[in-house]
Amino acid sequence: MELSNKDKYSTLVQQIEHLVGNEKNIIANLANISAHLKMELNLFWVGFYFVDQSNEKELVLGPFQGPVACSRIAYGKGVCGKSWAEKKSILVSNVDEFKGHIACSSFSKSELVCPVIVNNKVVCILDADCDKVNGFCEKDRLMFESICSKISSFFVS
Ligand code: SME
Repeated sequence: MELSNKDKYSTLVQQIEHLVGNEKNIIANLANISAHLKMELNLFWVGFYFVDQSNEKELVLGPFQGPVACSRIAYGKGVCGKSWAEKKSILVSNVDEFKGHIACSSFSKSELVCPVIVNNKVVCILDADCDKVNGFCEKDRLMFESICSKISSFFVS
């Protein structure tokens, strides 16, 4: 039986909680979360960009699964930099139609980006790429927001 989107994502959030367990190391946790999301959602690329604590003007690549990606993204640039600047998730149905999209791979056709916010500040960005146009829907966006909300709790505990 196919899980509904709602079930699929509440299961995903629970699985992420279990995956993390009592582990406090953020790199280990985000690495496993990337691997889990890549497998479960059959993504082309998924990973995290951290706000670089040394300058807070750039994102720097963190744990990910998939082909090599750009190491740094400036504040406000690309989908990730815009999500950081606006503190909002962004769903891009067709990357060719998003002005300023940063193409790390020509195989990426749609993208879903969501900030992880702690104490009203973005600490990192979850970025997912699909190799098909329209690879994500509004339900995916809402559920990525739930996942990022869960991830934000790992930064404070
Ligand atoms: N497309 C992103 C860049 C990161 S890669 O997709 C991994 C962007 O426009 O910010």
